[in-house]
Amino acid sequence: MINVAILGFGVVGSGAAEVLADNRHVIEKNLGKAVAVKRILDLRDFPNSPFGSLVTHDFNDILNDPEISIVAEMMGGSHPAYDFTKACLQAGKSVVTSNKEVVANFGAELLELAAKNGVRYLFEASVGGGIPIIRPMVNDLASNEIISVNGILNGTTNYILTKMLDEGASYADVLKDAQDKGYAERNPAADVEGLDAARKIVILAALSFGKLLDPGKIHCEGITKITAEDASVAKALGCSVKLIGHTELVDGRVLAMVSPRLIPCSNPLAGVSDVFNGILVDANMLGECMFYGKGAGKLPTASAVVADIIDIVAHMGQDRVRAPKFEVAGDADYADFSAYKCRTMLAFEDVAENYDKLEKLFGVTAKFSHGRLVIVTDEMTEAEVDQKIAESGLAVLSRIRFL
Ligand code: HSE
Repeated sequence: MINVAILGFGVVGSGAAEVLADNRHVIEKNLGKAVAVKRILDLRDFPNSPFGSLVTHDFNDILNDPEISIVAEMMGGSHPAYDFTKACLQAGKSVVTSNKEVVANFGAELLELAAKNGVRYLFEASVGGGIPIIRPMVNDLASNEIISVNGILNGTTNYILTKMLDEGASYADVLKDAQDKGYAERNPAADVEGLDAARKIVILAALSFGKLLDPGKIHCEGITKITAEDASVAKALGCSVKLIGHTELVDGRVLAMVSPRLIPCSNPLAGVSDVFNGILVDANMLGECMFYGKGAGKLPTASAVVADIIDIVAHMGQDRVRAPKFEVAGDADYADFSAYKCRTMLAFEDVAENYDKLEKLFGVTAKFSHGRLVIVTDEMTEAEVDQKIAESGLAVLSRIRFL
């Protein structure tokens, strides 16, 4: 019997207990061993839960229990989640987590600590909820160089964009709905302002290029400025609008960014709706490969947490198990965002005199669309777009990059 402890009995933590109990037969059949929850750490009591008797308020009950060999951290936030993770790894316990904040901020250090202590630190559920993406990138794509990753990485914002832009629902109603369904972060600003997706794209960038960037230092725009007019213009251009995490190398350095993007309908990411996430990896031998599934929610995310537990149990006693490896990025590892190149949609006030000015500056024909004067630039750098906008002297109503 393998004993597991759960840190944090919220949406995902209670889901993990449920997956371990309800799928006990599948897990036991796959492993030839039973896995059970022995302790649950939370500040609250859960008298009505079938797991209520396992709850402790004292982390030491878990840390000092030699029978607990795996700890599943699903507390959210950096502290005390990071501190507890560190203590568990140092005590010779493997840790699995859904906590992208801890992985994005401290993943390099925690992986090193796990290796030093002969245990494992796994974080499949930290990106893409229930979608297998971390393990495939570490194992199945190991023979490839990664060229780029483009992902719809936040279920809440994809749910909001789908309901608002496709179904005309109000922002407040849809956000409340996403919170009720357990998709949104405790503070949904992390979802709608793009920080949650930023944490996830820096994790994927680290797996792709070996450098863990600081999510606070990358270009990050959320969805709060996207309007119904943008959606109409997008439709007229044959595109949908999605919040995309993107990473690639620019001049040999790592670029990671989050922003709303216009996605041509021919791109498979354009069809990823509701709480679903989609991650399109371009690898030099395989070519493009798409990972798709539920990116948030109790049981989908918990299923990935439990998959990590099963992985640890299956490889117990083996000392050459593949592990992700990356280091904290130095200043010189960050690409210059102003050198990033793409096509961009720019919308200006619908005034006839602006038409010639824009055509001259950008060399493309401006179009009147949905009450705005809209241009789509050729592929050019961020710096060039900034400079031309400054030269035009016009106020930009909307600026959305193409994917
Ligand atoms: N708030 C996150 C999302 C949860 O909506 O994607 C899953 O990481």
